[in-house]
Amino acid sequence: MSSPEADVLVIGAGVIGCTIAFELSSAGRRVRVLDGRSPGGGASQASAGVLAPYVEGHDSRPLRDLGRRSLALYESFLARVVAASGVEVAFRQAGTIETATSDADVARLARSKATADAEGVAAGWLDASAVRDAEPALGSHVAGGLHIGLHAAVDVPALTRAAALAAAAQGAEFRLAPVHGIAADGAGLAVTTADGVERAACVVLAAGAWSAGLAPAGAEPVPVRPVRGQLLRLIAAPGTMHRILWAPDVYLVPWADGTVFVGATSEDVGFEERTTAAGVAGLLARATALVPGLAAATFGEARVGLRPGSPDELPFVGASAALPGLVYACGHYRNGALLAPLTASLVAGLVAGTTDDPALAALAPSRAGRL
Ligand code: GLY
Repeated sequence: MSSPEADVLVIGAGVIGCTIAFELSSAGRRVRVLDGRSPGGGASQASAGVLAPYVEGHDSRPLRDLGRRSLALYESFLARVVAASGVEVAFRQAGTIETATSDADVARLARSKATADAEGVAAGWLDASAVRDAEPALGSHVAGGLHIGLHAAVDVPALTRAAALAAAAQGAEFRLAPVHGIAADGAGLAVTTADGVERAACVVLAAGAWSAGLAPAGAEPVPVRPVRGQLLRLIAAPGTMHRILWAPDVYLVPWADGTVFVGATSEDVGFEERTTAAGVAGLLARATALVPGLAAATFGEARVGLRPGSPDELPFVGASAALPGLVYACGHYRNGALLAPLTASLVAGLVAGTTDDPALAALAPSRAGRL
């Protein structure tokens, strides 16, 4: 017997697709998630989970505003996911220190501090001696750092798994099937997969770096491109560092058990989803320059994911003008984990016909043409 039709098909089982499936199923929608990989098998497993709008979004006011709003939702969103899934998800408001090694860095971070101050986010400048008091493991070349206590980190693979389990517990179905295309079908939409055709009134395109390849007839491809990120997992002595440490060419995300994630390369190599000797060597060199003691850490593994890059670094979240019933939720680039709770809530609203959230203006797919 075939399963009943879904109200909403979600294409993509990454952190965005799974959190959307969770919100939609929480709202009572019958959801089916389609992906050629198991939940979290793409970019999500290679994310270090940094939630830092005043590091990642320094130059973009809309990105900072969206990031701050999504970060404010995080703890209550996680509590709901954990309660519905029974899976614990590590989250830590560790704070970041963005380090300076040159006069140019100091000047740039002074501007970042002024921005944070103006937007009501506490940011403290630490001079060379204060930064070493805070993080004694830092290399002696570090001349200071900007501390932002608001910033946090989340275990993204665990969040993705938990959101998928929570959605499934609320009735969502997950189908392991590569998706080939989306098309109009009578009053609704049809999605062709390797296993056949699925139909629903609404389709959410959350296929990350693969979203451009799924443009329906009559719509331009959403301009999302793959940007490879290689990430290392090291195991250091617990307490080697306390906060997330950020430098222009590397960042370090420590957890209480001694795990340190070292991120990340940023490479335009198309859909080449593999780690490389040069990528790993470069990350190790930069990590040990920032924190020399990491040379003694155990090498855990190297991971790789394809970030869904967008031209203006903002995602596309909104209804399609070209194909009624299609909703975009892709192109989150470096901020998928950060923007997941807000994106999930916006998409649940869009599916219910709510289009008046002010955040949607900056995210409109129409900014990239007829989508
Ligand atoms: N959000 C960090 C990265 O994309 O590397």
